[in-house]
Amino acid sequence: MKKLFPFVFVLIIVLFSSCKNEKKELSPSLKEKENKEAISKIDPSYQQIGLEIAFSTKAELGKNLMGTMKEKGAVAALEFCNIKAISLTDSMATVHKARIKRVSDKTRNPNNKANDSELKNIEVFKNLLSNNEDIAPIVETKNDSIHFYYPIITNEMCLKCHGTPNKDIDTKTFSALERLYPNDMAIEYSENQVRGIWSIQFKKE
Ligand code: HEC
Repeated sequence: MKKLFPFVFVLIIVLFSSCKNEKKELSPSLKEKENKEAISKIDPSYQQIGLEIAFSTKAELGKNLMGTMKEKGAVAALEFCNIKAISLTDSMATVHKARIKRVSDKTRNPNNKANDSELKNIEVFKNLLSNNEDIAPIVETKNDSIHFYYPIITNEMCLKCHGTPNKDIDTKTFSALERLYPNDMAIEYSENQVRGIWSIQFKKE
């Protein structure tokens, strides 16, 4: 029982900190082999560190995004994202002494393009989600650093800027998107899909 405790603790954190669409029913075992391996080999505290970094950065981005959306609408909010998303993420990286990236297989900003191992993990999370399995972070050790991956899943709000143009995304917002991101691939999403992942690296303790 004692050994299970850190794992259960991480699951509890995950459930309480994700938005409602990300909640999954708990089942006793994770079927995904890669996830299982990642978890069994790694000190569970690294998962907690990674999750804390991901959620605090998500909260920082979300707070600013929601505030601007409410006060000034979607166009202003996306202009805010355009200017601030990466610099906000970088400033959280300084706070946490980590390298924090929000990457995707279908990017809006080409600087957020996933590399090979990130793409592989995006696929792992997509499979877990579509099979309705529990989602836990993937944690890998490389020399003296920890590589942490955790999915970013869409909810209804995201569709205002990542959904279907002229349906979820209003015309004004869509033309602003076309102007700011001529190579935008990050549209046509629906709710509860893997939009990308947090890819976070930090030093072993
Ligand atoms: C107001 C419009 C808006 C909303 C709402 C919005 N986004 Fe975005 N999103 C953007 C913009 C603009 C970018 C590009 C930011 C940049 O240039 O760094 C972006 C980038 C991203 C990225 C980084 C990868 C990439 O494609 O560049 C992820 C991941 C992402 N959004 C997920 C989400 C999720 C999940 C939600 C809902 C919880 C959401 N977004 C809601 C406008 C929005």
